[in-house]
Amino acid sequence: MLKRFAIAATVILMGGSAAHAACTSDTPGDDMSFDQAQTVYECLKESMQAGYAKGPKRWVPEEFVTDYPGWTQASTKPAAPGFHGGRFLVTYVNDAGADAYLTWGEAAIPAGTVIAKESFMVDDKGNAKAGPLFIMQKVEAGKSPKTDDWYYMMVAPSGAPQGVNVFQACSECHQGNFGETQGLGYPVEEVRLER
Ligand code: HEC
Repeated sequence: MLKRFAIAATVILMGGSAAHAACTSDTPGDDMSFDQAQTVYECLKESMQAGYAKGPKRWVPEEFVTDYPGWTQASTKPAAPGFHGGRFLVTYVNDAGADAYLTWGEAAIPAGTVIAKESFMVDDKGNAKAGPLFIMQKVEAGKSPKTDDWYYMMVAPSGAPQGVNVFQACSECHQGNFGETQGLGYPVEEVRLER
């Protein structure tokens, strides 16, 4: 099947040093297929990951942010399930957690599991923009009973760690809606990595 779809990657050189990539699609974000979202992601990926890695991470373990692109990519394409501000999401899980995470709720998630989720939005005109990097870390039992032993973290597209009330801003939704699957929402079924 032939799909009419075009993507433009424009590189604007700023002051001759910093490069900024603009990624656009001729389809509004709300109407995009998984494949179209994937094409946008491929354009955006490098600059988005470079953005997250910039600057000091303070209370967010720096290696989470620098290492996650090498972890298992648990979602095969970006999907926008409506949560997380309607953004497109791409989920990565570290070695400690990959086997359990990829059972989609069957196996117990071990302490040491870290999950990082990139996000981006595509507006009505098809312009793509990076969103925050969301991170969840499973810590030892009893360390954070209020959040079911999950630590929640967020890094802005600029690389700055974001101070949020993780209980209200993250945990309430995750525990409240996904308490039966260990606090995890998981990517939509169409994009789950099968192995
Ligand atoms: C309104 C509900 C809601 C809120 C608030 C929320 N999330 Fe999520 N989160 C979800 C859903 C739904 C998913 C699964 C969707 C997907 O990945 O496609 C998810 C997935 C995740 C994942 C991937 C692991 C998983 O659950 O499969 C991480 C990491 C994550 N969220 C971190 C955060 C952080 C950090 C915050 C707070 C800054 C937060 N979330 C706030 C609903 C929420």
